[in-house]
Amino acid sequence: MRHILGPRLWDLYSLSYDCLVTYVLKNVRKTYVKELLELTAADKEIENILIVGVGTGQELSLIDTSIPVTGIDYSKGMLARTKKWIQEGQKVDLHRMDAHRLDFPDQSFHRVLMPLIVAVSQNPLKVLKEGERVLKPGGRLVIFDKFLHKDQKPTWGRKILNFFFQMVATDININFHQWLPGLESRLVKEIPSIFSGMFKIFVLEKKTDRDNHSSK
Ligand SMILES: C[S@@+](CC[C@H](N)C(=O)[O-])C[C@H]1O[C@@H](n2cnc3c(N)ncnc32)[C@H](O)[C@@H]1O
Repeated sequence: MRHILGPRLWDLYSLSYDCLVTYVLKNVRKTYVKELLELTAADKEIENILIVGVGTGQELSLIDTSIPVTGIDYSKGMLARTKKWIQEGQKVDLHRMDAHRLDFPDQSFHRVLMPLIVAVSQNPLKVLKEGERVLKPGGRLVIFDKFLHKDQKPTWGRKILNFFFQMVATDININFHQWLPGLESRLVKEIPSIFSGMFKIFVLEKKTDRDNHSSK
C-alpha cells in the first residue's frame, strides 16, 4: 500500500520541506553529487543531467552552471520552490511529470540522479528502469534513499512500522540488491550514509554494447 494523496501530499510537504531537510541532507548531497559528476574513463565532460523527483531542487546549487540540468517532479508545490536553488546563468529545464513514465526518448541523458524518489514511488522498480531507459550507455545513475542492508530481512515489527511509513510517504523495507540482476547497469559503488547507513547511495553505470558482448 502507498499513500493515497499522490502529488497532493508532496504539495503539502513542500510548504515546509526546505526547513525540514536542508540541514540534515547538506553533506550527503555533496557526496552523491560528487559521485554524479565524477568523470569515468569514457567521459570528456558531463553532457547533461536529469534529476528525477527534483523536489525543491536543492542539488542545483551544487552543480557546475555549465552543465544543462533537467528536473522532473509531479508536485506543483515542490517545483514552485526551486527558484531559490537555481544559480545565476544555470541552464535548468523543469517539467511536471510522473517518474513512472518519463516523457524523454531512450538514451537522452549522460547522468541521472534519483534523490529520495525511489522509496516514495508507487512502483520503485519501474521508476528505476525508466531512469535507466533514458540514460546513455556508459552513463551514470546515482540513487540516494533508504534501503535495507544487503542481507537484511525486515522483522515483523519493521513490517508493521512500514505500513504507517508508507501512508505518510515512504517504504523503509526495500532491498536494492534484489533488483541488480535485472538491471541494464552494473553497480559501481554502494556508500552507506546517514542514520547508521539506513540511507545509502548507489552508483550504477549503464552497460555499453561492449560490456554486454564481453559478458557473453
Ligand atoms: C522525499 S521528496 C525528495 C525531493 C528531492 N529529491 C530531495 O532530495 O530533497 C520526494 C519527491 O519525489 C516526488 N515524487 C514522488 N513520486 C513521484 C512520481 N511518481 N513522479 C514524479 N515525482 C514524484 C515528490 O513530489 C517529491 O518532490
